[in-house]
Amino acid sequence: MYYPDELVEEVRMKNDIVDVISGYVKLTKKGSSYFGLCPFHNEKSPSFSVSRQKQMYYCFGCGAGGNVFTFLMEYENYSFLEALKFLADRAGVELPAQEYSKEARQRADTKAILLEINKMAARYFYAQLKSTGGRHALTYLTERGLCNDTIKSFGLGYSNKYSNDLYQYLKSRGYKDEYIAQAGLISVDEKQGVYDKFWNRVMFPIMDVNNRVIGFGGRVMGDAKPKYLNSPETLIFDKGRNLYGLNRARTSRKSYFLICEGYMDVISLHQAGFTNAVASLGTALTAGHASLIKRYVNEVYLTYDSDDAGTKAALRAIPILREAGISAKVIRMEPYKDPDEFIKGLGAEAFEERIGKSGNGFMFSLEILERDYDMASPEGRTAFMREAAGKLNEFEEEIERNNYIEAVADKYRVGYEDLKKLVGKAAVQSGLARPVQRPRVLKGQEKEKEDGIRKAQKILLTWMASDEAVFARLYQVLAPEDFSEGLYRTVAGLLYEQYENHRLNPAAIMNHFTDEEEHREVAGLFHTRIRELSTAKEQEKALNETLIRVKKHSIEEAAKKLDVTDIAGLQKLMTAKRELENPGKLHISIN
Ligand code: UTP
Ligand code: MN
Repeated sequence: MYYPDELVEEVRMKNDIVDVISGYVKLTKKGSSYFGLCPFHNEKSPSFSVSRQKQMYYCFGCGAGGNVFTFLMEYENYSFLEALKFLADRAGVELPAQEYSKEARQRADTKAILLEINKMAARYFYAQLKSTGGRHALTYLTERGLCNDTIKSFGLGYSNKYSNDLYQYLKSRGYKDEYIAQAGLISVDEKQGVYDKFWNRVMFPIMDVNNRVIGFGGRVMGDAKPKYLNSPETLIFDKGRNLYGLNRARTSRKSYFLICEGYMDVISLHQAGFTNAVASLGTALTAGHASLIKRYVNEVYLTYDSDDAGTKAALRAIPILREAGISAKVIRMEPYKDPDEFIKGLGAEAFEERIGKSGNGFMFSLEILERDYDMASPEGRTAFMREAAGKLNEFEEEIERNNYIEAVADKYRVGYEDLKKLVGKAAVQSGLARPVQRPRVLKGQEKEKEDGIRKAQKILLTWMASDEAVFARLYQVLAPEDFSEGLYRTVAGLLYEQYENHRLNPAAIMNHFTDEEEHREVAGLFHTRIRELSTAKEQEKALNETLIRVKKHSIEEAAKKLDVTDIAGLQKLMTAKRELENPGKLHISIN
């Protein structure tokens, strides 16, 4: 971190989280917290809570959470430094300029300049489209069925026939060659000099989730090659972490996304009312895309082209999505090539119907597999079933696996038990018999127990952070070392330190974690849902049960690690254990 902790903390304290988030999300007060619709995933009833007391937010639906810095990092895609700068400005706190390392400042500045250049270029292309010189480009787009509103809202444009006039324009606005080149808008050639990358193409600006232009795709208006030319990856354009149309789709309030292949597919779908369509940017779907998608929805419909390449792309995407916890269905486009042509041919209603009829991704992959076998012959069918069994074996969870075995048995008219045996055989044959294969996966019961302990620890942390009186009592009987895991223990340690200095302040603890994932997890520690316990007696009972659970686990763990020669340690443990068995000793009372 480039700034002293005190300064970071000052900026945080001067930006009340409820005020800041209210600028983005409509919040309503409910009890001691504020609630609204979560901006990080689609939902219909509010599970996004903001606490003025804790100066933190948390979504009970998707687990997004953190302090005011986290919010801006997630919502605006800011880096920690950008969020800090923004909030310092907002609160009128001056950040000493020299505190930035030189490289960090340069990087931040360059990013800002590249964004400006892209924005200016997008405006320029749009103006060209609307000028007389761009008439044929506008005709091209309207003939492809796009109306003016659509063209405007997607900011489509035209790069004209002169070889360097965008370059001249940007230069006239004061931008240095170096930056224009870094934005990927020009090529520099020793012989020919500088010329524009995009030339006589209709232009599709690519925006990030916050509507900032980060790159372009440009299409020829005929059959020349390449059909589409795209901006190279730059400091602000990472193809693996952005999706075309996501800036609009994320507010569509649907529980799933439609994922397609092309710019035109996304635009046509949006125009037809399917405002939840996105596309990967001329690249295969990556794990990065999947985790981006997972922020908003748990389900997607793949509407890839109906050709071989599209089918292959869908087959590759399905396991990547599944890995990220997203279930995929596949919409067939036959007899058309892609969603754009389908909508033009059959209309939005027919597309809606296809959505309804879309098949499960796994079943789709089997349908494709069928093509490799002679399904009319017994040998062909048997070989196919063997291969299918191998694929079924890849489902780790037994219930899910059995559900799929049932569906496949049903569809291909074979006995459920027979197929199940075949899947078991496939497991053995591939040397992947389950018990040997995955020693790391905890057995159901063990896992449940571990989750239970974590939950109990979270509950205590939440309770302590929000009620100093509870903290005071727990302080007598519980130490940070009783929290079993790295992150939990670190957070508990920090919380105890604050308590000892009479400055309980969970939001400040977040300042110690600059990684987004950690932010999320730490925020979760302070926002565990504690069942609505109405009476003090009920609360007391729950608190004591939780405490005993955590203590007991802590003693068990300590016993496991104890050196047999450590007599003092052993005695300490024995005492702790006795205390645990004597309810009077450990009992905490509220009020
Ligand atoms: P398609 O070839 O399916 O084109 O490429 P399309 O989207 O249907 O385009 P139209 O309807 O002919 O205008 C799908 C996507 O792959 C990328 C683009 O992102 C395109 O939208 N692509 C394709 C390229 O980047 N370069 C190319 O030359 C072709
Ligand atoms: Mn197309």
